[in-house]
Amino acid sequence: MTILVAVRGMDAEAWAARLREELPGREVVLPGDIFDRRAVHYAAAWKHPPGSLAGLPNLAAVFSLGAGVDHLLTDDKLPDVPILRVVDTDLTARMSEYVVLHCLSILRQTRRYERQQRERVWEDDDLQPAAADVRVGVMGLGVLGADAARKLAVMGFDVAGWSRTARHVDGIRAFAGAAELGAFLARTDILVVLLPLTPDTQGIVDRRLLGGLARDGKLGGPFLINAGRGGLQKETDILAALEDGSLAGATLDVFETEPLPATSPLWTHPRVTVTPHNAAMSEPRAIAALIARQIRRHEAGEPFENLVDRAQGY
Ligand code: NDP
Ligand code: OXD
Repeated sequence: MTILVAVRGMDAEAWAARLREELPGREVVLPGDIFDRRAVHYAAAWKHPPGSLAGLPNLAAVFSLGAGVDHLLTDDKLPDVPILRVVDTDLTARMSEYVVLHCLSILRQTRRYERQQRERVWEDDDLQPAAADVRVGVMGLGVLGADAARKLAVMGFDVAGWSRTARHVDGIRAFAGAAELGAFLARTDILVVLLPLTPDTQGIVDRRLLGGLARDGKLGGPFLINAGRGGLQKETDILAALEDGSLAGATLDVFETEPLPATSPLWTHPRVTVTPHNAAMSEPRAIAALIARQIRRHEAGEPFENLVDRAQGY
């Protein structure tokens, strides 16, 4: 049973080598190799060339090498087989580190004190807000959003979450669906976006959404953190909101075009933090082990885990 590794922007050979280590004796091939397409039972993919997973008559599953699957579902020749995504404690912990780091950085004004240090300015406010006075809203209460929300609550933030269907996370105020989006935004000082990119969420972070964020918070205006996908945001709207003061700052890990073009004004905007889509890097060995575990489960007659709902797009 052969495993096909179809990736772009990643070291395909390294992924093949890791999978061979986890699944000794299996043939692991790359699209350019000569191999029997009927022998391919599994594919591991990340931004694969569209169409490259077609024509594999015995394919049993496609493994996304990341948590997101938008890179797979845009391929209209994607075979109709189960899709599995990455759900991994290491990846989840890294994303929560990113979210907590940047919420704390906003709360404790690190950008301001870095500037003051450069300018040798000794200046402080009489009283800085406490975490409990800052309302964080996490869009997407899935594996990553729920963990980040819990850890933000441990830091003392007043946390709420928003999801498509009603979710319960201890200590988190939960909102769901379009009907509750307005109320969720209206109580949000820091908006953390951890949604998947689907036809329903494409461009959701636009001027209208940003305009719905709380204006009465303790931070002097609302902040945005997007570590979901760049396709969720409209960058011209974010820049406009920063200019007219309806957004106090933005921390962006993902962009409409990646890598972020050198000409983007986001690079140099004084109230924008840019990171290169590395909020939660997938740890390759852990992911290869996850794939091997699912293959073994499948071959032992057990159901796959971490299945993607194609109809919902995540
Ligand atoms: P999950 O599938 O576990 O969670 C997705 C959440 O989004 C769920 O709560 C879901 O609602 C909610 N959601 C989906 N569609 C809608 C909608 N239309 N309206 C409201 N809520 C919606 O995904 P993960 O938490 O594992 O990952 C989230 C995303 O993070 C990934 O898809 C990926 O794009 C991104 N990511 C980014 C990384 C980075 O380094 N920047 C690294 C890893 C992932 P419900 O609970 O009702 O299903
Ligand atoms: C992912 C990512 O989806 O790294 O895992 O973006």
